[in-house]
Amino acid sequence: MYRCWGLIACISLALAAAGPAAAQKNKAKAVELGEMLAQPCMACHGTRGASTEQAMPTIGGQIESYLAGSMKAYRDGTRPSTVMERIAKAYSSRELEALAAYFAVQPFVRPPQATDPDKVARGEAIHMRKCNRCHLHNGRDTSVAESPLLAGQKLEYMQRNMVEILAGRRNIEIRMKGALLEITPEDIEATLHFYAAQQGELP
Ligand code: HEC
Ligand code: HEC
Repeated sequence: MYRCWGLIACISLALAAAGPAAAQKNKAKAVELGEMLAQPCMACHGTRGASTEQAMPTIGGQIESYLAGSMKAYRDGTRPSTVMERIAKAYSSRELEALAAYFAVQPFVRPPQATDPDKVARGEAIHMRKCNRCHLHNGRDTSVAESPLLAGQKLEYMQRNMVEILAGRRNIEIRMKGALLEITPEDIEATLHFYAAQQGELP
């Protein structure tokens, strides 16, 4: 038992001790629930979310907040989709959060993709000038503005997705919109080749 004096002090001490442990336990529970629900997702998104198809985004290893936010946006119809709106509607918010928790702790796998070397080189230069502010470390670092992992994401998926972003059909970080407006469509295409060409599992 804690040595503490006064009700408030006792409660705060007990809460401080229980906080991190409880959070960890909730997290483990969410991952467990997510794992139970995740099987149907893998038919399209690949084993543990490592996509093997160009039109399907890799979701294994993507950041949790982005996965959860995307699925809720699909469900609410604020992010356009071909199939995900219908799929996301079948789950409660808690289940969508659990799915995000499960996929986020899987490795982000980056098998080689067909990319154009000229575009990759041009894309790298544009990335350094316009996108590296947020998509640090060649699109591998997600610490700024909770930007999603782009390194090794499927090229065809990113191209389709960019059409939606440029058409203003998707809510997007306002400063990223600014960065996209400052460059040409060819430049944007080149950055996508650059991100798609990134390999290796870490991070
Ligand atoms: C029938 C195939 C299919 C199934 C099953 C499926 N998805 Fe998707 N998913 C897609 C496609 C295609 C997209 C791209 C958006 C669209 O066109 O719907 C996508 C996009 C996503 C994205 C956005 C990724 C990003 O980088 O922005 C997330 C997150 C996602 N799916 C999660 C899931 C989860 C979780 C499940 C299981 C509950 C699931 N998907 C089941 C096909 C599928
Ligand atoms: C101010 C920070 C910021 C800058 C600058 C930025 N981005 Fe982003 N980017 C984000 C965030 C945050 C998201 C997630 C979408 C959202 O919710 O706004 C994103 C999403 C994306 C996506 C979609 C990923 C997916 O799976 O759907 C692509 C592609 C992308 N950015 C490319 C770029 C390119 C190319 C540039 C440079 C021209 C750029 N970004 C500049 C923050 C930024």
